[in-house]
Amino acid sequence: MTPPRRHDDFAAPPPPAAETPCYPFAARARDLKRSEIREFLRHAGRPGMISLAGGLPAAELFDRDGLAAATAMVLRERPAAALQYGMTEGQPRLREALSALLRERGIAAADDGLLVTTGSQQAIDLLARIFIEPGDTVVVERPCYLAAVQAFALAGARLLTLPTDADGACVDRLDDCLGGPPPKFVYLVSTFANPTGATLAHERRLALLRWAVRHRVFVVEDDPYGELRFAGSAVPPLLALAAEVPGAADWCGYLSSLSKTVAPGLRVGWMQLPPAVAEQAGRVKQTLDLHTSSLAQEVAAAYLASGRLPAALVRARARYRDQAEALAAALRCRFGERLQFAMPEGGMFLWARFADGTDTSALLPAALAQSVLYVPGAAFYADAPERATLRLSYAGTPPELADEAAARLARALAAG
Ligand SMILES: Cc1ncc(COP(=O)(O)O)c(C=O)c1O
Repeated sequence: MTPPRRHDDFAAPPPPAAETPCYPFAARARDLKRSEIREFLRHAGRPGMISLAGGLPAAELFDRDGLAAATAMVLRERPAAALQYGMTEGQPRLREALSALLRERGIAAADDGLLVTTGSQQAIDLLARIFIEPGDTVVVERPCYLAAVQAFALAGARLLTLPTDADGACVDRLDDCLGGPPPKFVYLVSTFANPTGATLAHERRLALLRWAVRHRVFVVEDDPYGELRFAGSAVPPLLALAAEVPGAADWCGYLSSLSKTVAPGLRVGWMQLPPAVAEQAGRVKQTLDLHTSSLAQEVAAAYLASGRLPAALVRARARYRDQAEALAAALRCRFGERLQFAMPEGGMFLWARFADGTDTSALLPAALAQSVLYVPGAAFYADAPERATLRLSYAGTPPELADEAAARLARALAAG
């Protein structure tokens, strides 16, 4: 039996069995990138496995009491709003609460630019649908969040990649993407990127905005992790900085989500866009799901109104800091200079590279044999992969397991 697929199980299904009829699938769906690691991700739940592979928040952090109270309250006091069809743009109470969150992040949110989405993944998909014609180009980071690459590929985009370093995307290389017709947009995860954990430096943000205005190219800033900062100081979102660059607000969209701060099961995300772009995206959203779950939106609105989020974020940041520090210390101790990585300042991921060029896809079977899992870096490249890289998520691994995880990885390397 085919195991159920999770959001980060990004492989295509196995080839159909011999007796399966040959369905006339569209080539763009059929050609969605396959991943050789699907086999291994199936083992993430195996007893005794330490999985550093998944991109899931720590389940212990979910504010179950707060969400239970919010759910009970909306069913008791707002049953019609919570259980009835709603507006495509989102429930008014949630829209107000999300606007307030945006203001806290420095973004002056215009009401007609806000669209509630079914997770920020839907926001990515909507932008792909409204901007991309087959053959168009889109600029992504190298490496990049894989499900965005998949959404853009599904829409028929050709992907151009922008190198990244410790300060995020190398925006001084953007002109390299201007050889042909202008790209439809630049997509980046600006803060604590998936997979690199890097944050786009302040100066680079301004340079990117100036470039976007100069070349009239839209910039999509995906920010699901920004609230999870546990070290260093915050850098304002692009849309907050747009006030400093004349014209930039017209060329910038901001995506965020409650998945990493409240709970991914709510499937509540949102985007703030120039009004004309929001209107277009709203029309397309209507054809996808009419609207995001009214119940989830009302629960999210009630939860945000309860004032419990700030304390939940304090707990999450402390936990992720402890887990990141424990994993980094264990890796340094077990691998020394052999494994290079920058200490993340927030988010959920540690991105590492074997200095000796060890191929992390080839190493995975040995890691599995030692009951430890990670994602080989090759999975995150839209072009030629750097095979010595790997993504380690510390979000689900308590500090007391960090050394054991690193020890297993070291044994896998010794055996491989
Ligand atoms: C960079 C990035 N964007 C978007 C998403 C999608 O999140 P959601 O649809 O749960 O909001 C994820 C999930 O892991 C992510 O890492």
